[in-house]
Amino acid sequence: MRESIHIPYQPKNVEPVEMRLRAQALYARWNARRSVRFFTDTPVDAAIIDALIAAAGTAPSGANKQPWTFCAVSDPVIKARIRAEAEEEEKTFYSSRASKEWLEDLAPIGTDWEKPFLEMAPWLIVVFKHVQDVRPNGEVKKNYYVSESVGIACGLFIAAIHEAGLSTLTHTPSPMNFLGSILGRPAHEKPYLLLPIGYAAPDATVPNITRKPLEEIRVRYTEGER
Ligand SMILES: Cc1cc2nc3c(=O)[nH]c(=O)nc-3n(C[C@H](O)[C@H](O)[C@H](O)COP(=O)(O)O)c2cc1C
Repeated sequence: MRESIHIPYQPKNVEPVEMRLRAQALYARWNARRSVRFFTDTPVDAAIIDALIAAAGTAPSGANKQPWTFCAVSDPVIKARIRAEAEEEEKTFYSSRASKEWLEDLAPIGTDWEKPFLEMAPWLIVVFKHVQDVRPNGEVKKNYYVSESVGIACGLFIAAIHEAGLSTLTHTPSPMNFLGSILGRPAHEKPYLLLPIGYAAPDATVPNITRKPLEEIRVRYTEGER
């Protein structure tokens, strides 16, 4: 049975010493990533964005349903509409919708309702998750672990953007259903994340916050260690 539906696969062998160096170098590179909220308007070639989206599309997904669409927007008219509607939602969020605790948690990040980066960055990528699978003939099928799958694809996307030498922000205007209307997406696609992509402004700043150390996020269960 397995033979009839599987094909051979053997990833390239890496020696443990080289493996460790690679893992450490990867951590060093990814640890230098920050969410950027200040961009230049320097254009980024569409082919670069396409390659980054293709990289994100290599993510694993529940039953291989690949329940995602990446809308890549560089049209200034659409970007201006997205900014206007996002800022409307954000104004209500910061003035009434957000709880006191949420606002306190956001204080060290220093964000407010204004989102100029939504027009400044050369690209806005709006990621949609497919809550159902709708075939070209209109047949509706189930998708599985949709949020987990799209989250993993977005994680790869963010890492790929950083590896390529560009910057992004994981942005979640709340609520963000307006994105489906602006971009004319079908009802089974729900907006998941909004990511501006571009070059960080020369005077860009980031919140002075820290990451949890390894010891705080890793629990080991090796023989004799516990
Ligand atoms: C699911 C998710 C939603 C986020 N939403 C926003 C957002 O709406 N606005 C914003 O400025 N940052 C947002 N962020 C970015 C976080 O504030 C940021 O990742 C965190 O402070 C850590 O900073 P770093 O990405 O520079 O390491 C979001 C991050 C995640 C993962």
